[in-house]
Amino acid sequence: MPDTITITDDRTGKTVTVPITDGVFPASAVRELDPSLFIYDPAFMQTAACRSAITYLDGDAGILRYRGYPIEQLAEKSTYLEVAYLLLNGELPNPEQLATWSHDVTHHTFIHENMRKRFVDGFHYDAHPMGMLISAVSALGTFYNDAKDIDSKESRDKQILRLVAKMPTLASMCYRFSAGLPFVYPDNDISFPANFLQMMWKIGEYELDPRLERAMDVLFILHADHEQNCGTTAMRVVGSSHVDPYSSCAAAAAALYGPLHGGANEAVIRMLTEIGHVDNVPKFIEEVKSGKGSRLMGFGHRVYKNFDPRATIIKKTAYDVFEVTGTNPLLDIALKLEEVALADEYFISRKLYPNVDFYSGLIYQAMGFPVAMFTVLFAIPRTVGWLAHWQELLGDKDQKISRPRQWYAGEDARDYIDLSAR
Ligand code: CMC
Repeated sequence: MPDTITITDDRTGKTVTVPITDGVFPASAVRELDPSLFIYDPAFMQTAACRSAITYLDGDAGILRYRGYPIEQLAEKSTYLEVAYLLLNGELPNPEQLATWSHDVTHHTFIHENMRKRFVDGFHYDAHPMGMLISAVSALGTFYNDAKDIDSKESRDKQILRLVAKMPTLASMCYRFSAGLPFVYPDNDISFPANFLQMMWKIGEYELDPRLERAMDVLFILHADHEQNCGTTAMRVVGSSHVDPYSSCAAAAAALYGPLHGGANEAVIRMLTEIGHVDNVPKFIEEVKSGKGSRLMGFGHRVYKNFDPRATIIKKTAYDVFEVTGTNPLLDIALKLEEVALADEYFISRKLYPNVDFYSGLIYQAMGFPVAMFTVLFAIPRTVGWLAHWQELLGDKDQKISRPRQWYAGEDARDYIDLSAR
């Protein structure tokens, strides 16, 4: 069987045959048929906008791999900083490379004092930490004039290092401001997750249980990348204009903030709290099915149609955390929801399964994070995924500034009507 596709324009009888490579054929075939012919594909459901070698995802089989390595192995054996190196460089670091990378990240965690004193202090006392983080990432870029020099590899590497290293500092700063607590400076002698947790929680003496440190690292690994999701696509689209990476990251973070994307973990906790008791689960499910209530938050995924491998790992991590913190009272409701939904024809036929956000919120809450910080916790590790894609985009000769076409549905040409005649 030939690995080609032939498209015929029935209006003209013109035919074009192009190769199918890895299940993809070039849209240039359509251009060749007729340059004024376009494909209508809202939400890019059937469109591959780039070639990428970073993350492989098979939604039907529930497979997720970073640079070829299964997420299950990385979550069990690796660390977030090692995974960050892998995503950015394509290979796992050797001991020397890891030591240099870890040292460099650790020594770029501080932020300019004016970020805290002038910028963050200007927010209203009850500002949402994610709204603050989005603006803070963008503002951070104004401290580095070399950030605009995106054609220089040296400059790109420096901005990547700064962003990866400073995100936890920015994130904890946003939290401490909203809680009215004094800012805690980074500690260069402890691990990446331990430093973040210390900046979040330290008031006087602070001792961190290693199980919580590891859980944080695993959550960072699981959230580090997820190929062309909404936030990463925002990063690529904005980055394609050749703006500096801080501005692109702010755009990606803004996309992540939405409740259909990274904001879903927040929505899950609100939903579980609203349900209130396991006995109310069947009624809630009926409301979801009837379309009268909300969606079942933390369920369903554009790509995973079997199971989300991250959800399986997160569920296990939840129990590790609960060993230290005691169980989350909402867990029973979540387990019941999962049980009822997975046995229900509505969810089975639509291939709706728990996604990464279903259990992550329960862990965050048990660890003491306020709900408003959940998406911030997602943004910290996802920054490296955004940057890996940004780097890839800039090196991809096929890429140009993103500029989709539209299917015009407005008025035809008409003459201006004077105000007095309207
Ligand atoms: N609860 C109830 N029904 C649902 C849900 C849900 N969570 N998700 C999808 N459906 C139904 C939907 O109503 C539709 O039914 P019908 O065919 O009868 O109209 C069908 O399933 C297909 O839904 P869709 O909206 O066309 O699917 P999509 O691929 O556009 O949406 C999604 C994917 C994640 C936005 C959606 O499943 C959803 O809204 N889930 C809840 C929010 C959530 O948990 N988001 C986190 C996603 S994972 C983290 C990330 O990577 O961002």
